[in-house]
Amino acid sequence: MSKRTIGFVILVSLVCFIGSQGMLSAADKKAQKEQGKTEQAAKAKKIDTAAMLDSNHPPYEPGYSCNDCHEIKIDAKTTATQVWLTGESPGKKAGEGIMPKDKLWAAMMKVIGGKKFESHTYVLGTCLNNVPLTTTAEFTLNPEKKVLYGFHEKGTEKLNQMRLNPKVSLNWHKEFKSFADFCCVQIKGHAELIESNNPEFEQALVDFLPYERGARVPADATPQQREERLKQFRDSLKKGSFVISKIYIDQITMATVDFTKEGYRRYQRWTP
Ligand code: HEC
Repeated sequence: MSKRTIGFVILVSLVCFIGSQGMLSAADKKAQKEQGKTEQAAKAKKIDTAAMLDSNHPPYEPGYSCNDCHEIKIDAKTTATQVWLTGESPGKKAGEGIMPKDKLWAAMMKVIGGKKFESHTYVLGTCLNNVPLTTTAEFTLNPEKKVLYGFHEKGTEKLNQMRLNPKVSLNWHKEFKSFADFCCVQIKGHAELIESNNPEFEQALVDFLPYERGARVPADATPQQREERLKQFRDSLKKGSFVISKIYIDQITMATVDFTKEGYRRYQRWTP
């Protein structure tokens, strides 16, 4: 085919394509696409985490990921993390060295606990349309409710992502120096955004978040003046430019060599 013929063929195909698309409303198209996906998903079998696409794989639109159609088998016995957490691993028989739940929570609190100025900076992972995003942000743990609070200026990408997909993951870690001294905490959770008209917004400020940093209370203020200044500052934060994220903790996995000092595995996992 000459270049002109190819150009003509492409043009005709485009016109046909646009024409046929034009006959369907946006809603029809969406329904058709959804149906296509569900039909495909119904045919798709369970695959394991190591499964790869081969050239016989039915085509699908960009933006879909494997787990939109396939259920992914997570084999508790073969994944490396499970081996480290509970399986037979160097120096440990299967099921040996697992820290009791309360003791583990207490050990985790020593690392990620602490309110106000003892809050921690985490890397927060959010995800939308299968596109992940990580953001550094400060969070404070409420140990009774087992939630984390973060204070954010409105209008940022991470907030949009959390609003549309509340599943999040956070990570705090000590800068790695050596295997004799490492510590990392990985959290999986789901987020809720607390607007400033919700009484919990002010409560989280008063009890947990280090908002006092911005209040510029004069050093020589009396306790009463200090309270007044703080109240005034909280009121200014409630004018609608800020939002608090409340992250419910669904799972924490912590790795530190410190656990081994008492005979426990270096990887421990906590779930509510
Ligand atoms: C839009 C839906 C869809 C998506 C997304 C999708 N698949 Fe599939 N996949 C299918 C369907 C349908 C089949 C079955 C084809 C058949 O046998 O007719 C299939 C078959 C397979 C098979 C063969 C399974 C078997 O036991 O025969 C593997 C392996 C596979 N897919 C892996 C993947 C991986 C890896 C991804 C992501 C990178 C992926 N698929 C994404 C729909 C999908």
